[in-house]
Amino acid sequence: MVTAYDYTAARIADAAGIPILLVGDSLGMVVLGYESTIPVTMDDMVRHAGMVSRGAGAALVVADLPFMAYQVDANEAMRNAGRLMQEGGAHTVKLEGGVAIAGTVRRIVDAGIPVMGHIGLTPQSVNAFGGYRVQGRTKAAARRVWDDAIAVQDAGAYAVVLECVPSPLAKVITERLTIPTIGIGAGPDCDGQVQVFHDMLGLFADFVPKHARRYANLADDATAAFRQYANDVRTGTFPTTAESFTMNEALLADLPDG
Ligand code: KIV
Repeated sequence: MVTAYDYTAARIADAAGIPILLVGDSLGMVVLGYESTIPVTMDDMVRHAGMVSRGAGAALVVADLPFMAYQVDANEAMRNAGRLMQEGGAHTVKLEGGVAIAGTVRRIVDAGIPVMGHIGLTPQSVNAFGGYRVQGRTKAAARRVWDDAIAVQDAGAYAVVLECVPSPLAKVITERLTIPTIGIGAGPDCDGQVQVFHDMLGLFADFVPKHARRYANLADDATAAFRQYANDVRTGTFPTTAESFTMNEALLADLPDG
């Protein structure tokens, strides 16, 4: 699974055979320029889910319910999950949390909307965590992550993202759950992995998480390309006649002098 936030990105990832595209609320940082996912709205998510679903091809499109779209009550959560599907074209939704939101997961699932869970480091709770910290390192914290995993599974989630959880804990959870785990910063033993599009492609230099692997340096390539373009314009080597359109110049004879 990789994140995608627009039509072009979805086309590219789908062409590579990536089976699941996540319209993550991480778009708050890498697309909208916020410092966290907290300011992201339902309207943001619906708009970007629509872009991705139009480019997704065969891929499954999962869209995040953003902060405060599901915490107030289960009815609002269901309405918002429905919007991501009806207006955004998503196939399934993802929401953060375990024991605390299990009832809401159950209501959404019962309404016919497949839910992917997300536990461990849940970025919408960054202020409660006091920062982006690995979760589950102590005995009590590991037990909390475990309880969250069981809660979302029992509530009917079809898969669960484990974010920033120590590998041994992720391994145990993966072995004992009956639904697949998808890891990000959760080691090699999860059933699947998810990465953020911009981290993988080297498009976002503000912050590169320890768990991200960079497969390309597109920001550097793009900067070099724009520099070259600006230079070509300044030196008159762009555009050439091959990059321009011709006409019968006699037709210009009667144009006024100005
Ligand atoms: O929003 C996002 O990109 C995510 C992934 C980090 C799993 O939720």
